[in-house]
Amino acid sequence: MINFFDPASDKSSDLGTPARDSEVQVSLSIDGRSVTVPAGTSVMRAAAMLGTSIPKLCATDSLEAFGSCRMCMVEIEGMRGYPASCTTPVSEGMVVRTETPRLAGLRRNVMELYISDHPLDCLTCSANGNCELQTVAGQVGLREVRYGYDGANHLAEQKDVSNPYFDYEPSKCIVCSRCVRACEDIQGTFALTITGRGFESRVAAAGGDNFLASECVSCGACVQACPTATLTEKSLVQLGQPERAVITTCAYCGVGCSFRAEMKGDQLVRMVPDKNGGANHGHACVKGRFAWGYATHPDRITKPMIRKRLEDPWQEVSWDEAVNYAASEFRRIQLKYGRDSIGGITSSRCTNEEAYLVQKLVRTAFGNNNVDTCARVCHSPTGYGLKQTLGESAGTQSFDSVMQADVVLVIGANPTDAHPVFGSQLKRRLRQGARLIVIDPRRIDLVDSPHARAELHLQLRPGTNVAMLNALAHVIVTEGLLAQDFIDARCETEEFTRWRDFVSLADNAPEVLGPVCGVPADQIRAAARLYATGGNAAIYYGLGVTEHSQGSTAVMAIANLAMATGNIGREGVGVNPLRGQNNVQGSCDMGSFPHELPGYRHISNEGVRAEFERAWGVTLQPDPGLRIPNMFEAALDGSFKALYCQGEDIAQSDPNTQHVTAALLAMECVVVQDIFLNETAKFAHVFLPGSSFLEKDGTFTNAERRISRVRKVMEPLAGKADWEATIALANALGYPMHYRHPSEIMDEIARLTPTFHRVSYAEIDRHGSLQWPCNDAAPDGTPTMHIDQFVRGKGRFMLTGYVATEEKVNNRYPLLLTTGRILSQYNVGAQTRRTANVAWHDADRLEIHPTDAESRGIHDGDWVGIGSRAGQTVLRAKVSTRVAPGVVYTTFHFPESGANVITTDNSDWATNCPEYKVTAVEVVKVFQPSQWQKRYQDFSEEQQRLLQERRSAEKAEVRR
Ligand code: SF4
Ligand code: SF4
Ligand code: SF4
Ligand code: FES
Repeated sequence: MINFFDPASDKSSDLGTPARDSEVQVSLSIDGRSVTVPAGTSVMRAAAMLGTSIPKLCATDSLEAFGSCRMCMVEIEGMRGYPASCTTPVSEGMVVRTETPRLAGLRRNVMELYISDHPLDCLTCSANGNCELQTVAGQVGLREVRYGYDGANHLAEQKDVSNPYFDYEPSKCIVCSRCVRACEDIQGTFALTITGRGFESRVAAAGGDNFLASECVSCGACVQACPTATLTEKSLVQLGQPERAVITTCAYCGVGCSFRAEMKGDQLVRMVPDKNGGANHGHACVKGRFAWGYATHPDRITKPMIRKRLEDPWQEVSWDEAVNYAASEFRRIQLKYGRDSIGGITSSRCTNEEAYLVQKLVRTAFGNNNVDTCARVCHSPTGYGLKQTLGESAGTQSFDSVMQADVVLVIGANPTDAHPVFGSQLKRRLRQGARLIVIDPRRIDLVDSPHARAELHLQLRPGTNVAMLNALAHVIVTEGLLAQDFIDARCETEEFTRWRDFVSLADNAPEVLGPVCGVPADQIRAAARLYATGGNAAIYYGLGVTEHSQGSTAVMAIANLAMATGNIGREGVGVNPLRGQNNVQGSCDMGSFPHELPGYRHISNEGVRAEFERAWGVTLQPDPGLRIPNMFEAALDGSFKALYCQGEDIAQSDPNTQHVTAALLAMECVVVQDIFLNETAKFAHVFLPGSSFLEKDGTFTNAERRISRVRKVMEPLAGKADWEATIALANALGYPMHYRHPSEIMDEIARLTPTFHRVSYAEIDRHGSLQWPCNDAAPDGTPTMHIDQFVRGKGRFMLTGYVATEEKVNNRYPLLLTTGRILSQYNVGAQTRRTANVAWHDADRLEIHPTDAESRGIHDGDWVGIGSRAGQTVLRAKVSTRVAPGVVYTTFHFPESGANVITTDNSDWATNCPEYKVTAVEVVKVFQPSQWQKRYQDFSEEQQRLLQERRSAEKAEVRR
């Protein structure tokens, strides 16, 4: 295992103030040694670059200097007094002394004052050994405190332990304000403030009596910034200081934050975001930083299990027995029903190597192309739409690119909840002056957040994205805002002309389409003008674009806008899909679709197939296999009988739950590989225990195509990592796989995938992370795509006629339901529901506008029945003006909510991505659960009983 740990490395590598990026270099002398640094660098940082550590308390290199503690005084020739080195920029020829008897005396005096108001319980303090106050006291040689310890001070202050993950112990606070600045500058929440003056100064969380009740979103930036034990992780208090750290990657969202997993033995003590992380630069959110307890939750299933029928109790068996049973069932079913009667689903939560192995197993051992992945239900339209227009199925930029954007258009995405670290970065850019357009049916936080507001919020009706995008294009074309030089040089002329003529039609004018979208035409015109003329303009979009019957059309319309305005191919611009799950980009890259081999190469391409056939030693089927919805249809028709489902919970995440569960019931063998008995596993015949991201090696690829290492910090609880289980299954099916380490799988991927040719674990380790394409043409990876030309050569404008969804409101279903995520929960919630994150969100609720609530006699907190053409469920109401009249909204993190019982089978015309975002519903006040919820409750209880029986049988055997 690579051990990156230096117990104090985070702090010892702290250069005190942020780096400056200037072409002007400045030379100076510090303690008689010369150093040359970029203009604007602080004296403190310049000294640190020479290896000279000037004592500091209020400065840290993740925050702009504040200059409050006076610990970092230095002497500078020609300057009066003792300037603070953290706030003093270098100048040419400057002569600095950092250690003189006078400075030593002054620093000791300052430290004496701090210590006179600080508890001296160092030996029993959780920060003992890793406390900056302690370190600096030693550094300045403090030996006595002349002021005593019992003056006016903070020592009697009460602890605030309300936050589930960290404590606030004000008696230890030195009022350095690092936490306040971290909350403002890094997180952008502005939840903290310093109240009072002098000895009365306190850190206070705004908006509540304590941290939990306040506006704090529990990102932990303040905890990380705090130099003392005032703000401390509870896990650290409980377990003590860590002994080693391993750099790995968050397993939650598509931002792909890099973390130091700090360990004590095989126990995880805390996750600290890595300052060198290319996607997160040392920041994180409540999920990645704190919500990792699920990995060792008692609900984890760590033994393989089998059963013949869903009514039977589970039988714990050995890995060999489980795998051989699954293999024999797959073969029996293929013999009886044909080669194509089985298939597999790869996981967007597992590693690239694991996704690659599952699709390989399906194509080799199963002998068909019946493989699909969760991107089917989220970003498959991105793959299709961007490939058609730009030539590559991925976002065009790095997250950092947003710092060069002048205008940001966010459509159908909610970054502060679903991609929080990017959300913070975006807010930072907005505070610097970038202008924001939000197109969303809901008033997301970005519309009006502290010090960052949307200039325009186009609150469109769900299902009208394409109409909106066409109206924006109409304005750009008809008002002469096209980037004609760019179009002439970079795009196909004929396609452009067709598109220009189409969007110019009067039918696409905002005055016509505005009423369709429910947005005033002048707002649409203003947004189009701002996007086209405001400088670098970047589009960020999410599932609010893709999960529609015209999801692919909307993605193409977005690419059209970027090409039409020349906003592609450089920093600060681009088309950026915000991917949901941590490795959804990677699972798509790895060939998880039924029509594509790794690297998005079509299965019908003979040359490509021949390459894989040579490498894999099999004949591949030339026709695309079944997509997930087709698998369900085929199961209900009786032609699809067995499924290998790794790390996905289709029974909860896919639309029209009753349809999905009927399909699962119709299968003869469902093999689920997961860490918990998830909703799908309740319909399974074989359960293969999965491994969490902490238990395996591999790579994840985030939304900016960044391939980052996942490193094992503890042994797999079930004895096998997921990739090892897939290998065992392939071998049992008679297709030999002999990888000894995931790096060998990556080597094979690199050999077979042109965009990955130069990717290897050694190269990733050397660079920290790599953004594909990474090959001989781009050995260091590709942060920005399509710079000189598009991947497909010339950019292709596609026609994007608006076709209203078939899902229409009427008298019976007068409201439109749309769905989304919340910060504290993740996807189906299997992980986050098993953490203290439930403190913020313990149930899904239905947001309904006060007008709609009032006309139905609904009050906040009432139980309401939501009925659609697909089904009914019951949730509690949350009366809110975040949604417009006529629109209701819910999250889908709890299985008992049954949000997907209501969503329909409608899907994107090109990719079958479900139309989660538009369901016509009626909402009424009710007093009991829906019929579905009652059936769900009974079935779940029965399945839990069957799981428990397995456990008691085991105990009984042990007793005998
Ligand atoms: S945890 Fe994050 S949001 Fe909460 S106070 Fe600290 S920095 Fe602010
Ligand atoms: S809580 Fe920590 S970071 Fe905040 S002012 Fe107090 S000592 Fe400084
Ligand atoms: S932003 Fe996403 S990747 Fe980063 S810590 Fe949060 S959940 Fe993990
Ligand atoms: S570190 Fe410079 S004033 Fe505090």
